[in-house]
Amino acid sequence: MGAKHILVINSKGGVGKSTLTSNLASYFSFKGRTALCDFDRQMSGVRWLERRDSSRRKIDSITGWEYRGTDDYEWIIMDPPAAVTRKDLTSLIARSDLIIVPVLPSPIDIHAAADFIRDLIVYGRIRTTQKPIAVVANRARTNTVIYDQLKSFLQSLKLPFITSLRDSQNYIHASAQGIGIFEMDPMMVARDIEQWQPLLRWINEAAEIGRMPLMDQTAPGTPTKSKQQKPLLRAVN
Ligand SMILES: Nc1ncnc2c1ncn2[C@@H]1O[C@H](COP(=O)(O)OP(=O)(O)OP(=O)(O)O)[C@@H](O)[C@H]1O
Ligand SMILES: [Mg+2]
Repeated sequence: MGAKHILVINSKGGVGKSTLTSNLASYFSFKGRTALCDFDRQMSGVRWLERRDSSRRKIDSITGWEYRGTDDYEWIIMDPPAAVTRKDLTSLIARSDLIIVPVLPSPIDIHAAADFIRDLIVYGRIRTTQKPIAVVANRARTNTVIYDQLKSFLQSLKLPFITSLRDSQNYIHASAQGIGIFEMDPMMVARDIEQWQPLLRWINEAAEIGRMPLMDQTAPGTPTKSKQQKPLLRAVN
């Protein structure tokens, strides 16, 4: 069986792509041979790995665009830059098995995410290939109006809204040490780890199934129709 390629992508900068990829790489390094594939000239992923102590679980570094596929790994986590061309977007999606879109719950970010998800669906041929795709709210403060709007918006796209990750210094401390929150004192990160559980479950299930119809994807905690608010943006068809 070939490696499962997880792509964490959003055309907006600073939404947590590298934070999610490094933490996913940290998590999957305990499950099987794992590599982080950094496509970004900023090389946050490569630098994170350079800070990683050799006594930690091994995570290999693969240089983005030069990578042509290998059977050496079970998990390959892909960290692309913010703005990618349509051609690169198509190519990244073609290389991936699962797609995760981190979104910050702010009005600007939600609007940008709407455009980006539309591009993903059109240029990445997401609906045709039925690649599992899910959205994660990052640095989220739940019980805010904008958070509810983000939820409604994702409902309108019929995309699973998997989990919300809080703003936490733990991510910053982990990044500084070249580790993920899964490698920190469990007492300190208990709340964060809990927030990751739905995402890890979704990845494991989606990776097993391989393909799942976009419309049938549901996430734990997804509000029922009656509770939905008026969508902030029109749905993408
Ligand atoms: N949940 C979080 N809690 C606290 N800080 C966070 C969280 N998520 C991300 N950050 C911080 O926000 C900054 C941007 O995050 P990150 O580098 O992961 O974003 P990115 O989408 O990869 O950015 P770029 O587009 O520049 O590659 C980093 O300093 C990171 O440590
Ligand atoms: Mg980054």
